Amino acid sequence: MAHTHILITGGAGFIGSNLVRHMLETYPDYHIINLDKLTYAGNTANLGDAMDHPRHTFVEGDICDRALLEKLFAAHDIQGVIHLAAESHVDNSILGPEIFFMTNVIGTQRLTDVAYRHWMNGPGEVKPGYEHARFHLTSTDEVFGSLGDEGLFSETTPYAPNPPYAASKAGGDFVVRSYHHTFGLNATMSNCSNNYGPRQHDEKLIPTVIRKALAGDNIPIYGDGKNIRDWLHVHDHCVALDTVFHKGISGESYNIGSRNERDNNFIAQYLCELLDAEAPKADGSSYKSQISYVKDRAGHDRRYAIDPTKIKRDLNWHYAHEFDEGMIETVRWYIEKYKG
Ligand SMILES: NC(=O)c1ccc[n+]([C@@H]2O[C@H](COP(=O)([O-])OP(=O)(O)OC[C@H]3O[C@@H](n4cnc5c(N)ncnc54)[C@H](O)[C@@H]3O)[C@@H](O)[C@H]2O)c1
Repeated sequence: MAHTHILITGGAGFIGSNLVRHMLETYPDYHIINLDKLTYAGNTANLGDAMDHPRHTFVEGDICDRALLEKLFAAHDIQGVIHLAAESHVDNSILGPEIFFMTNVIGTQRLTDVAYRHWMNGPGEVKPGYEHARFHLTSTDEVFGSLGDEGLFSETTPYAPNPPYAASKAGGDFVVRSYHHTFGLNATMSNCSNNYGPRQHDEKLIPTVIRKALAGDNIPIYGDGKNIRDWLHVHDHCVALDTVFHKGISGESYNIGSRNERDNNFIAQYLCELLDAEAPKADGSSYKSQISYVKDRAGHDRRYAIDPTKIKRDLNWHYAHEFDEGMIETVRWYIEKYKG
């Protein structure tokens, strides 16, 4: 069977590795080219058996490397891109913003431009054979800024990124928007809320709470712990990316979320309760006693919340993981990782 070659960037990271597995399982006619720089956040171990799958080719490289991108598009005749590679941790963007703008803006521009030139002869002129070639950009709800107690982010909420991470992601979104608007590139975008689930990097909130709890260390919570995020299981995000990539309207963006707003205090306490049941401490005390409050993150956004009406209504996407069941499964996965 002739395979269609799809480029996934950032496929050794948290969401990307889950997406590569999902696409290999779902589409027997796809061959996935997985381009990842293997920064501190990427690890081929995240891919498990998918790493050696006959329809998976892993390429270690940088999305900023234009010559490499051109070589990959030519060698594999790439017919679709799902772009996830990014610097993704807000705290790191406060310590060292430059790499965020390099990868998330310049890297996104180089990748979009190489796709444009491989698929099109000029503005509005698609090369024969590339009529269905599509570019999907994976973005975040953080581009919309911070909400007060009320309201939700919709696709028409004005961008108001606060930390450098969000500003760099917003820049990438505008790159793709401009390539669609100006050149007619077949492109979609999605802005998703916070993900949880297996294979997330240690630095993020949920793995940190579980790891510190099991190690007997203080569980650090920023500020007063009342910052609210909207939590979605990573597999539901992958299905949404698949749905938008295949069924979304070119030029449109889709917000992805499951209306699971929780503050960090809730997340920490809830994880401790699950750990108390799944991996009880020898002395019978609760992990909750390890929760400790630390100096707040600079400029910490207060609340994010997604209105997913459009993707549900127009593309018939629905999340499958209820929060409680997804969190128990997640906690068990990290207990294996950190205790195993
Ligand atoms: N994690 C979330 O909650 C969330 C929510 C919404 C959107 N997103 C977006 O989804 C995407 C993936 O997020 P994640 O949580 O999996 O991130 P991650 O940090 O776990 O993975 C990012 C991957 O990109 C790779 N990478 C970084 N710079 C690169 C470069 N210059 N060239 C090639 N590869 C590079 C890394 O090696 C890593 O494997 C990002 O674009 C992020 O902005 C994440």
